[in-house]
Amino acid sequence: MMSFIVNSDIRIFPTPYELAEKFAEEMVTLADEYEKAGSCMTIALSGGSTPELLFSVLGDHFSRSVNWEIVHFFWGDERCVPPDDPESNFGMVQRSLFRKIGIPASNLHRIRGESDPSGEALRYSLEVEEHTTKKYGWPVFDLIILGLGEDGHTASIFPSNVTLLESENICEVAIHPASGQKRITLTGRVLNNAVRVAFLVTGSKKAGIVEKILKSQSSAQNYPASFIVPSYGELTWFLDREAASLL
Ligand code: 6PG
Repeated sequence: MMSFIVNSDIRIFPTPYELAEKFAEEMVTLADEYEKAGSCMTIALSGGSTPELLFSVLGDHFSRSVNWEIVHFFWGDERCVPPDDPESNFGMVQRSLFRKIGIPASNLHRIRGESDPSGEALRYSLEVEEHTTKKYGWPVFDLIILGLGEDGHTASIFPSNVTLLESENICEVAIHPASGQKRITLTGRVLNNAVRVAFLVTGSKKAGIVEKILKSQSSAQNYPASFIVPSYGELTWFLDREAASLL
């Protein structure tokens, strides 16, 4: 039975820039801990526009603060477009972060949006399994960064395909309910099997949905993001003052 968000750590910042800066600092500290422990760190990134500032801050101000050899990047979801398409989540990180840091290409586990969606969902599931550890039979990411849509979707799990929260597969093909765009997304059990899940949500447009998910439990069941409750990991909401304005 899926459970709602009951208690999660909510951190509110005055501006999106201060949020991005603090989050970048914490990512650097975390990567340092993994390096000291002699292990690699696996991070699944969110797409959309919100995390771009974080990637720019990391690339412009922390490029030499991390041993990128030990960091492996994955995606929570991708649009079914080529990497040079303006809609590509990979393309966005390539422009805002990867071209500024010396990270081995083999550490970038891109979802091939240009490939056949169902074939790619299968291929990416195998790539995730190959490069992550397992717990409870599911892959474990050290950190998953998620965004939040105004309809309560996260990754590409929309109210219209909420069954993906309980999918038996690691990745699934999804369809954006408004645009009809095909997407490939990690599914709910992978998202809830992470060591750390961080929602990054900014702007007044998101205040309503943030309030519905974090405050009024009654309506939370309509929103996929409400069901992101790591089974044993940490859940933190990073909000700017505008997104938190109704809390
Ligand atoms: C995507 C995302 C998606 C995103 C939300 C919020 O590929 O679009 O992964 O889940 O995080 O739609 O998008 P914004 O940050 O652009 O508001």
